[in-house]
Amino acid sequence: MHPSAHDRVRPLRWTGTALEVLDQRLLPDRCEYRRCTTAAEVAAAIAAMQVRGAPAIGIAAAYGVVLAACQRFREAPQTWRQAIEADFARLVRSRPTAVNLVWALERMRRVVLAAEGDPCPAALAEAERIHAEDVAANRRMGELGAEVIGDLSGILTHCNTGSLATGGFGTALGVIRTLWQRRPGFTVHATETRPWNQGARLTLWELEQDGIPATLIADSAAAFLMCQGRVQWVVVGADRIAANGDTANKIGTYALAVAARRHGVKLMVVAPTATIDWNTPHGGLIPIEERDPAELLPAYYQREDSLAGAWNPVFDVTPADLISAIVTEKGVVRPGRDALETLRG
Ligand code: MRU
Repeated sequence: MHPSAHDRVRPLRWTGTALEVLDQRLLPDRCEYRRCTTAAEVAAAIAAMQVRGAPAIGIAAAYGVVLAACQRFREAPQTWRQAIEADFARLVRSRPTAVNLVWALERMRRVVLAAEGDPCPAALAEAERIHAEDVAANRRMGELGAEVIGDLSGILTHCNTGSLATGGFGTALGVIRTLWQRRPGFTVHATETRPWNQGARLTLWELEQDGIPATLIADSAAAFLMCQGRVQWVVVGADRIAANGDTANKIGTYALAVAARRHGVKLMVVAPTATIDWNTPHGGLIPIEERDPAELLPAYYQREDSLAGAWNPVFDVTPADLISAIVTEKGVVRPGRDALETLRG
């Protein structure tokens, strides 16, 4: 899949025998791909956040299943179906919140287990389909989201939702890219997105590749930015949308939603329908990943005798009533006015 002029980065490359994962922990200083040749290596790359972002981890897991299917069939042509269950289990455990992971694995499971003979070709075809469909969905959401937003002088985005977080082009960043192609000149503000700095390290970098200027703010500056009337929309992605529209996304999204409501700024969630979890009725039931306190706590406090600790939830849940629009590839839903259910099927 070839990136366009407005989307030059790819987090995942399939070589024919391996999945190359762009190690996002090193960006923007170094651009290095790590080669994964087993499902276990792909699961480890997801858990360590070498690849991150809900759609991208779903796609990575799908290629992980390709590696597993080829390997398990080669090793045991009669009993590979039992053996591959361990690979599915390992991949599904790699990160808990983004439902795209489970969604992609279920799609892969259906195809792989239905295969007669060698499951490898069918698995690869399905992984490539998942990948291509994601890019197409992002382009469609870019158009739909840009139509909803119309004219504006400033926009705020959180975390990284671009090509790095998806198969390509991006969800919320795809809307920003599309808006920029149509009417450049507004100010794109990006939050740092502590503690992992997806905004500062990744979003600014992606936008710079595209020639789109961006202004970084500390997460804690967002409410003041809105108070000054500098942004009309906050545009974010999602890791899991419950059936009632409550949305889990990067920690800090809920605070942005509260501040946006206070200041009359609108909040748009941009996500493919693969991110909707119809089995979870409301946001209170979404599993929220808590990562190692060491990712947050300064090294000084990581001594055994330190009295300081850290709580490190990496997602939060924004209630549907704080969201002005949910943009998917199948259409736009305005919570409170339309039911998410219209997107089902
Ligand atoms: O912890 P991360 O970096 O995987 O979190 C990513 C996000 O929260 C994104 O906003 C979300 O996955 C949507 S990306 C298209």
